[in-house]
Amino acid sequence: MILSDFQQEIIQKTSDFVRQTLAGAEGGHDWWHIYRVWRSAQKIAAEENADLFTVELAAFLHDIADPKFHDGDEEIGPKMARDFLEKQGVELPVLEQVDKIIRNISFKNSFENPGFRSKELAVVQDADRLDAIGAIGIARAFNYGGFKNCQLYDPGIPPNQVLTKEEYKKSISPTINHFYEKLLLLKDLMNTTAGKRIAEERHRFMEIYLDQFYNEWEGEL
Ligand code: ADP
Ligand code: NI
Repeated sequence: MILSDFQQEIIQKTSDFVRQTLAGAEGGHDWWHIYRVWRSAQKIAAEENADLFTVELAAFLHDIADPKFHDGDEEIGPKMARDFLEKQGVELPVLEQVDKIIRNISFKNSFENPGFRSKELAVVQDADRLDAIGAIGIARAFNYGGFKNCQLYDPGIPPNQVLTKEEYKKSISPTINHFYEKLLLLKDLMNTTAGKRIAEERHRFMEIYLDQFYNEWEGEL
């Protein structure tokens, strides 16, 4: 799918806006996370025949104001995205789609059985999830854990796989537990064929990483 000149111009402006807005954001959720999600989303969209314009806009805007860093407010992000797209003259149906994708993309919200589904949401959600696993996912997890001053690992604190949305948000358990509470679950939550394929590879990499981690922990290597 080829974007029109107008659409390409909007994409460029959106990219600039997001990059500026996220300057100084925490390392796991910064501009480069957006960049990676955008790149993956483009590739997956091509395989899925999804609407590329909607996918790219949603990829750029999906973390524009993470509730974690705005006192839990889940309305700021969608509102900022809407205001921005309206100003650019983006047509209402596209704007509505992007709004819904932003509201429904998050792992936290999957606890609440979201009603909205679309091909474009499936694509952007997969791209976002892929960035939480594999080598980058591991880096992001430890970066986030460091930001929250969590321990790397504590053999005495078992992972808790049945977290509620509130428990998940508040969790300060060791970062290794996060692998069992989220990262290793993601491969089975992928929506698209391409997403599943890439997730399998990244999942395998995390398993190898964890084996090595435990071996080193006990001085076995
Ligand atoms: P989402 O936006 O999909 O709900 P989060 O905002 O919860 O995801 O997570 C953003 C990044 O921070 C991800 O890479 C995720 O794995 C990581 N992260 C979130 N919570 C934790 C945690 N408790 N420990 C370690 N990493 C975390
Ligand atoms: Ni994201």
